[in-house]
Amino acid sequence: MRKKIVVGNWKMNLLRDEGVLLVKNILKSKFNDKINVVLAPSFLHLYKVSKMTSSFKNITTSAQDCSSSTSNSLTGGVSVEMISSCGVKFVIIGHSERRSNFNETNIQLQAKVNMAISNKLNVIFCCGENIEKRKNKSYFDFLKNQITEGIFHLNAKQFSNVVIAYEPIWAIGSGNTASSFQAQEVHEFIRDLIKIRYNETVASNTSILYGGSCNNINAKELFSQKDIDGGLIGGASLSADNFVSIINSF
Ligand code: PGA
Repeated sequence: MRKKIVVGNWKMNLLRDEGVLLVKNILKSKFNDKINVVLAPSFLHLYKVSKMTSSFKNITTSAQDCSSSTSNSLTGGVSVEMISSCGVKFVIIGHSERRSNFNETNIQLQAKVNMAISNKLNVIFCCGENIEKRKNKSYFDFLKNQITEGIFHLNAKQFSNVVIAYEPIWAIGSGNTASSFQAQEVHEFIRDLIKIRYNETVASNTSILYGGSCNNINAKELFSQKDIDGGLIGGASLSADNFVSIINSF
């Protein structure tokens, strides 16, 4: 049975005290404890947030990136071993903001995926098309390529540690959420790709999250789609009330 997962991607938001307060407020809220909640603060706050959540069995943490380098001579780099050593269980790889701002290619992302998987970190692998590709209907081919190059080299056992997040770029931070029809269509397409590459069991066990202006108003309808297993939440994860309400939308 695949897991229901809601991830809070804080991006470059929140000072340390603000992050601590947000986590405290999330922890004291009532929410559906069958949902796996993952908090993804900045590297600086990651250890603190991991410590704060360590006794909650359905709440864990994620890094927003990791290095693919095996060399320690990398000023500013953060290795998967460092991330794991802080009690962190996930890493987000391939977010469109990193692909565009840091020119991360599918092949570089593949190297990050390998590094994470071989060090027992679960991967939240992001894919998503821009508005041109949506309009000219080339998004299926584009997504297939991102997924094939980024994660389909993994064997089935390795792949069981991957969660996919479909995040159309045109929906991220824009308030322009994909309709439940648009999101479900792509999620079903991704699940079919997994079935073709691996098998039916692997496909039905893989969690596929939606991200892009998902909030407490639209989450219920999105999460009710048969191939949408949760969300990767940016802006709306910065308020405990909104985030908890999204978690409780299942
Ligand atoms: P958003 O961001 O919810 O603010 O649109 C989602 C994301 O980029 O992960």
